[in-house]
Amino acid sequence: MGKGNRWDPAQYMKGAMGDLRTRPAMDLLNRVDHDRPARVVDLGCGPGNSTLLLKGRWPDAAVTGIDSSSAMIEKAGGSGADIDWQLIDISDWQAATPVDVIFANASLHWVPDHAGLFTRLAGALAAGGVLAVQMPNNFAAPSHALIGEIAARPEFGAQLAGKLLGDAVQAPVFYHDLLRGLDGSVDVWETEYLQSLTGEHPGLQRVPGTALLPVQ
Ligand SMILES: C[S@@+](CC[C@H](N)C(=O)[O-])C[C@H]1O[C@@H](n2cnc3c(N)ncnc32)[C@H](O)[C@@H]1O
Repeated sequence: MGKGNRWDPAQYMKGAMGDLRTRPAMDLLNRVDHDRPARVVDLGCGPGNSTLLLKGRWPDAAVTGIDSSSAMIEKAGGSGADIDWQLIDISDWQAATPVDVIFANASLHWVPDHAGLFTRLAGALAAGGVLAVQMPNNFAAPSHALIGEIAARPEFGAQLAGKLLGDAVQAPVFYHDLLRGLDGSVDVWETEYLQSLTGEHPGLQRVPGTALLPVQ
């Protein structure tokens, strides 16, 4: 996933969802310990909500937002902020020069081969740099379990095997052990957000913009 333009910025940030989706980015950013990064990259920047947080914290840094959805990049570019927006797949992205902060909120679970990916990203950091990643781990929630149940039906099975959201995500200890073997220190933790959703079929309203994309 990631290639193609099925992402809809308006659906993604609809109503109260915008705040709920940005909250983990804020919490992650608060944990990043870097005073004056020169270069900051936001992988899977979406409509720019997470990238604007980065620019807000480090206004003097050269900030780049990367996304494979042209709709998302177009929306992000409309912010008018002094940010370099690039339409590129994370799997293909390479740092021209070492990066001080690589930030990825709610995006790397769309990208396969986490052993290779995380090793490559850590290798793109400048000395003292930070790789900060947040991925959801709610793939057993009723909404996602139901998607998986239906996708496993014989008529869909072959087409969707291994392509559902979360298929790339490993247990937290996997990331701890992988990154501990590289240079630097590692901090892995889990946070559970309880969200009060309102309206008719609130659970269903949340998934079209994200978890349903691979099966739509
Ligand atoms: C859930 S949104 C996250 C947006 C934003 N970072 C945030 O904090 O809300 C995931 C974004 O990752 C992008 N994405 C998914 N797979 C990607 C890939 N392989 N390469 C680049 N961007 C990707 C999608 O286009 C989407 O904009």
